[in-house]
Amino acid sequence: MQPIAHYQQIITDYFNNVTFDKQPTGLYQPIQYILSLGGKRIRPVLTLMAAEIFDTDCRKALPAAVAVEVFHNFSLVHDDIMDDAPLRRGHKTVHEKWDINTGILSGDAMLILAYQYFEQYEPEIFRSLAKLFSKTALEVCEGQQWDVDFETRSNVTQDEYLKMIEYKTAVLLGAAMKMGAIVAQATEENCDLIYDFGRYLGIAFQLQDDYLDAFGNPQTFGKQVGGDIIENKKTYLYLKAIEQANPYEKERLLQWFAVQPDDHMEKIADVKQVFKTSGADAAVKNAIELYTLKAFETLDKMDIDISKKQALRAFGEMLMERNV
Ligand code: IPE
Ligand code: IPE
Ligand code: MG
Ligand code: MG
Ligand code: MG
Repeated sequence: MQPIAHYQQIITDYFNNVTFDKQPTGLYQPIQYILSLGGKRIRPVLTLMAAEIFDTDCRKALPAAVAVEVFHNFSLVHDDIMDDAPLRRGHKTVHEKWDINTGILSGDAMLILAYQYFEQYEPEIFRSLAKLFSKTALEVCEGQQWDVDFETRSNVTQDEYLKMIEYKTAVLLGAAMKMGAIVAQATEENCDLIYDFGRYLGIAFQLQDDYLDAFGNPQTFGKQVGGDIIENKKTYLYLKAIEQANPYEKERLLQWFAVQPDDHMEKIADVKQVFKTSGADAAVKNAIELYTLKAFETLDKMDIDISKKQALRAFGEMLMERNV
């Protein structure tokens, strides 16, 4: 195993040295744009790490890792249209810089580009990767639909929320890891365990994303702080606040989440205050830790060196402490 920075560098080098920009530019420039804005690249790093966990040179997993990252970027371009988001990675979102049609088609093309990377594998591995990828991509769509459905529902439960984030976010982290394991031809049991590790980490990751959406630092966060509040997203913060707030605060929250005022500053400020006074912020932090620990528990069941478990733990801990 190498330090995490080593795997990050491989991914950064790959995207720095490849160009997606060709004709027609209206289709490909936005792809080049979003991919060159970078981001944390956590999913492809997980794929590379998973291959090495199972004793295979991580470069063999590079095409699968890139596929996962290109798919992730596709999902972000469409997600930003759906969430009406102005900012991504500190820059304009694709549909703001160009227009919605551009976001739709460039997104579609990225989904297909992602798939093409699997063609670099021999038939047996190709088949396993493509099967996992298709299943995961459909689940992401299902999760995204729930996320949107919940915007206009006022009776979303915590279980429904957890299932929604498992689908829209966590399964992709699980699949990213399992792809590395597939390339390394790990046993089915190990493939499933590493998938579960990624899935639990993914749930923690989305909880943290929700937390940062409200409480992130606007100077460094790279996305519009308060975007989920503007869109009436039924996040864990919201659901916990509804559960724990006093009747007066609860009524205020319900009212705010039934409207979309033109000037949302007052809404964001008031809602954030209730997230704090109700203790919802602390509850989310607890849940993040709980799911990270669940991820670590699946490591205990895996028959791999302690040093490899340490590397995966370090990654989980790094994610928990992130600010962007
Ligand atoms: C954002 O993912 C979308 C979620 C599933 C929360 P990331 O936070 O990994 O975004 P980048 O790729 O680092 O920008
Ligand atoms: C995004 O969830 C999940 C997918 C892109 C599939 P969010 O809508 O919370 O992601 P951000 O906050 O815009 O990155
Ligand atoms: Mg979004
Ligand atoms: Mg969204
Ligand atoms: Mg978010």
